[in-house]
Amino acid sequence: MHNQDTSWETSSSWYDKIVGAKGHYYHQQVIIPGVLKLLQAEKQPQPHLLDLACGQGILARHLPKAMKYLGIDGSASLIHSAKKYDPKAPHQFFVHDLSHPLDLPYKDFSHVACILAVQNLPNPLPLFRTAHAHMRKGAPFIIVLNHPCFRIPRQSGWGVDEQKKLQYRRVDRYMSELKIPIQTQPSRSEASEETWSFHHPLSYFTAQLKQAGFLLDHIEEWCSDKKSIGKTAAMENRSRQEFPLFMTLVARKA
Ligand SMILES: C[S@@+](CC[C@H](N)C(=O)[O-])C[C@H]1O[C@@H](n2cnc3c(N)ncnc32)[C@H](O)[C@@H]1O
Repeated sequence: MHNQDTSWETSSSWYDKIVGAKGHYYHQQVIIPGVLKLLQAEKQPQPHLLDLACGQGILARHLPKAMKYLGIDGSASLIHSAKKYDPKAPHQFFVHDLSHPLDLPYKDFSHVACILAVQNLPNPLPLFRTAHAHMRKGAPFIIVLNHPCFRIPRQSGWGVDEQKKLQYRRVDRYMSELKIPIQTQPSRSEASEETWSFHHPLSYFTAQLKQAGFLLDHIEEWCSDKKSIGKTAAMENRSRQEFPLFMTLVARKA
């Protein structure tokens, strides 16, 4: 399993289309604003951001001009798109499988980010070690992930309690490690391309961060800002505010 190519190369045109130049809905509404706020709070001299598993470079296109940027992803096609979206900006991109170690000559990044990707690698430790090896001491490593406690593919979902008139979140499995294929276009069933998702409980990620030499600084939990309309709107809106979609870990190089 550890030699498996988990990059989104085979799903790259689908992913590039749903993200586009501006980002998908949650990039635009929740993730990019949340990450920019964290970056803003973490001002550093000569800011230079390393974006691990950058996809087609969505974060690069939202950064303040003064911030230099290097994005790395395992998919050559997504890196090709990233360069096309960003021809003039002083941003650099290259392809690397982050399941394997990386040794860059530059080791002074002021910030490192990894957005919606740690659950796509069977083992995030090599990626965490790459982050650690290339950043300044005390610098923040910002990791955004699908909330590992509430969003477990195939093992969590919504249910409705008719008596209490509430929508609840059901979680069938949590502590077990899971490897789950995700069809990118379920309507095409078997013909759909697949990506892989790897579920781990939260404590696994914090233990891996510690092993890579990080101290966990804080955790943020981000909810969807969507609003339902119609008969079930009240309970749907309430549960959307109770169960966050994303978790963001801010770790620091010790
Ligand atoms: C959900 S996408 C997120 C991309 C980008 N951060 C964004 O927010 O649009 C997950 C990314 O992880 C990358 N990825 C998965 N496994 C990888 C690996 N072993 N090495 C490098 N990148 C990998 C995929 O190619 C894909 O671009």
